[in-house]
Amino acid sequence: MNTKSTVSFASKVGAILAVAGSAVGLGNVWRFPTEAGEHGGAAFILIYVLFMLLLGVPVMVTEFVIGRHGHKDVTHSFLSMSGGRRGWKWMGLLPVVAGFLVLSYYSVVAGWTLYYAFEAGLNGFAGKDAATYAADFVSFSSHPLWPSVWMAVTVSLTCGVVALGVRRGIERGAKIMMPLLFLLILVLVGCSLSLPGAERGLRFLLQPDFSRVTGSTVLSAMGQAFFSLSVGICCLCTYACYFRRDVDLMKDGLKVASIDTLVALLSGLIIFPAVYSVPGLQPDAGPSLVFITLPNVFQQVFSGVPLLAYVFSLLFYLLLVMAALTSSISMLEMAVAYFHEEWRVSRPLSAIGVSLVCLLLGTACSLSFGVWADVKVLGLNFFDLFDFLVAKLLMPIGSLLMCVFVGWVVDEQVVRQEITNQGTLRSPLYRLWLFLVRYVAPLCILLIFANELGLFRVLFATVH
Ligand code: PHE
Repeated sequence: MNTKSTVSFASKVGAILAVAGSAVGLGNVWRFPTEAGEHGGAAFILIYVLFMLLLGVPVMVTEFVIGRHGHKDVTHSFLSMSGGRRGWKWMGLLPVVAGFLVLSYYSVVAGWTLYYAFEAGLNGFAGKDAATYAADFVSFSSHPLWPSVWMAVTVSLTCGVVALGVRRGIERGAKIMMPLLFLLILVLVGCSLSLPGAERGLRFLLQPDFSRVTGSTVLSAMGQAFFSLSVGICCLCTYACYFRRDVDLMKDGLKVASIDTLVALLSGLIIFPAVYSVPGLQPDAGPSLVFITLPNVFQQVFSGVPLLAYVFSLLFYLLLVMAALTSSISMLEMAVAYFHEEWRVSRPLSAIGVSLVCLLLGTACSLSFGVWADVKVLGLNFFDLFDFLVAKLLMPIGSLLMCVFVGWVVDEQVVRQEITNQGTLRSPLYRLWLFLVRYVAPLCILLIFANELGLFRVLFATVH
């Protein structure tokens, strides 16, 4: 029954691009500039990069170890690595639950990006004033029907790719979309840096102002490292099940993390110089930066050359769409792999079934911006609730459990064999990685968690 899967990515490059596709997403192009903007720029970025190295990369490699060792699906991976301790089998449900939750709310924003790309294509942003962009966004996102329709389109595209399978769908999709994404980014960075006022944007990104660093900056940077690398919910574990034996888990993990960080920084290089080139605009506009501030920015900075405004907006929103799609593909795959491998449901049927449930849940999230704004569970609307459950609960808990599992439960010999590809690779960073997985990452995670639960607030309140 536990035979290993015969499915794998066809090439090492394909595997790296697919994982990078999962990591690079709205988290880089939308969430990162928002967070960096709100937390003062360069200082936040330095702390974020530090957490990528201390926390993100170690947990990522941990997921790779678990996934590739099992080489079938996540449930099987945990079972086989734990030496048959059945309790760990339940970790196999983590990607299923998380997959449903994360895809449901992520695809709401992915739907917005598709709509904005469409609007940009129709030149719908031309000739409006700043207030109109804000009003337009609010009226679109709170509409009871249209955001759900655009979300359904993105979920259908995602479903189509996943239904095609690992090589023909996921790997091929990543091989087409990732190079395009890089190309778009480079073109947009070039345009943005040539704008008047660009050096102020650059300074914001590169000159740290540590006086603005607070506890919340540090914790947001940690959260961003998790979300951006897609770690903690066995998404990368699912992809690693399809890795071939020649993938160097440590080196290729570092490559993915570098690509992910580079894309985040380049997105900052697109957005901040553009924002600073319009007098009066500030980079800390929050989540609306990409949907309200930027359409306005594009029109204003290229006001003398409408064609450039058109091209720049269109390329930017296409970039967002592609980044969102490569990530949502990995989210859908998390649940689909489970039903396909464990329940023997065919891949297309699993993909359609999971997508339909996500559409239902996603509609509830989408309505949170309009008619269901006041429907709350635990004081949060559906969108915020799903985000909270994934980013603040499942990701830290999942990462913690995986670090404990690989660092303390699994026989170290098994882990070493996996990292060194059965002794054929020299892995000079192995000891450092194990130290981070055993001690540093769990400690960081417990700190984030304590903060999320408000423990520090209670503690400080008692001290003062
Ligand atoms: N890392 C993705 C992004 O940056 C989001 C993601 C989270 C993808 C969890 C898969 C799983 O947008």
